[in-house]
Amino acid sequence: MKKVLVAGATGWAGSEISKAILENSEMTLTGGLSRAHNGKNLKEVLSLKNNQTVPLFDTIENAMEHVDFDILIEFTKPQIAKHNIISALKKGKKVIVGTSGLSDEDYEEIEKIALENNTSVLAAGNFAITMVLLQKFAEMAAQYIPNYEIIDYADEQKIDAPSGTVAELAFRLSKVQQPNIAVPIEETIGNKATRGATINGIQVHSVRLPGHIISVETIFGLKGEKLILRHDSTESAEPYVKGVLLAIQNIETFKGLKRGLDTIMQF
Ligand SMILES: NC(=O)c1ccc[n+]([C@@H]2O[C@H](COP(=O)([O-])OP(=O)(O)OC[C@H]3O[C@@H](n4cnc5c(N)ncnc54)[C@H](OP(=O)(O)O)[C@@H]3O)[C@@H](O)[C@H]2O)c1
Repeated sequence: MKKVLVAGATGWAGSEISKAILENSEMTLTGGLSRAHNGKNLKEVLSLKNNQTVPLFDTIENAMEHVDFDILIEFTKPQIAKHNIISALKKGKKVIVGTSGLSDEDYEEIEKIALENNTSVLAAGNFAITMVLLQKFAEMAAQYIPNYEIIDYADEQKIDAPSGTVAELAFRLSKVQQPNIAVPIEETIGNKATRGATINGIQVHSVRLPGHIISVETIFGLKGEKLILRHDSTESAEPYVKGVLLAIQNIETFKGLKRGLDTIMQF
């Protein structure tokens, strides 16, 4: 039986993940993190029928002192996520990261600490299976089309940019082939910022507006033709749950860091 602690257990994504773990006979939810509900039982906070007591804690230190777990699921905020991940790794826990906003440099440090402690981290900018497919299709396209840019859409409250989904996509596409940029950004006449941010050599444009959830467009162009690969998420956190359960089942199959859900999927 895998013992799991969910950081962000009362949040939009973390509450759905917590409910799915409670219903899964191969896993047990031993606790959660939420500052607002510190000391309460998750069952009461989420009005669940399940009889199990799931204590909530305000900090990872507090949780590690009071409950046992093998795997930390991290779905909080970028300001606290790295601290939670590193604290858990140093105690030999395995970690699954959904929280966005961590940089490639953060992940280099996380990988080092995971290896030093002989444990593992799986980080995915998006745990939805359909998004994993977009990543795969975009990687195939980038092999043949050396001109592309990414647009990242989210609601106006999203604190980090680009989204974790887009940061991971840019990281992965840059490994396939960095795009050609016909007019170098520094030679752009006018306002260079309008050409977007250069992330791993790729131009990324983040749009933050009400009425948007999370969408991604990877736009490829060749002379006389274009290809647009687009993924849209709805308001439900349900698509992420399956991917996180798959990650829990596979986190023991490697050591160190893996980025992207597809790294543990069979294609
Ligand atoms: N990779 C993916 O597939 C995926 C999917 C969905 C979301 N996400 C990412 O997951 C993160 C959470 O998203 P969300 O929409 O679920 O956010 P949310 O609804 O605001 O939930 C955040 C959760 O984290 C807790 N939290 C925040 N700061 C904390 C702290 N300092 N210490 C302990 N707990 C803290 C909150 O509880 P308290 O406020 O009570 O502390 C709450 O339970 C975001 O970075 C989002 O981009 C990733």
